[in-house]
Amino acid sequence: MAKLDILEFPDPRLRLVAQPVETFDADLKRLADDMLATMYDAPGIGLAATQVDVQKRLLVLDISETHDDPQVFINPEILESRGTEVCQEGCLSFPGVYADVERRDWIRVKAQDVTGKAFEFETDGLLAVCIQHEMDHLVGKVFVDYLSPLKRSLLLRKLEKQRRHAG
Ligand code: NI
Repeated sequence: MAKLDILEFPDPRLRLVAQPVETFDADLKRLADDMLATMYDAPGIGLAATQVDVQKRLLVLDISETHDDPQVFINPEILESRGTEVCQEGCLSFPGVYADVERRDWIRVKAQDVTGKAFEFETDGLLAVCIQHEMDHLVGKVFVDYLSPLKRSLLLRKLEKQRRHAG
């Protein structure tokens, strides 16, 4: 498995819109494996293909505390949603900064696995939040887009500061 480069904000490629996956082949399986390896290495709990400069509707997640429950969602769609909840979110494309974002609390999702097999499930809490965050990436949206201009500029200033310190 190869580690992929994660695009960081404000890279304009984070704004590209992903295309539906139509071919479920060995290359797709390899991409999903590489994305999982990249996510675990970062470390993070979710990664969308957009973040590794691949414009395909594919995302990977693992919200388990033991980091042994990899999940792959291809061509994900939210069929139904209810309620709202505010959760503190971070993003591998914004290292070291976090912000509260309001999302739907409960969602019913349809997706395909790496073999193309369709599945449907309902979820809430952290998994629901993560799926919505990663699905946003697939349409070129990032979590800071939800913040007020003031909160966003404070957060982006902090991001710059973190980069200088990491630099
Ligand atoms: Ni993200």
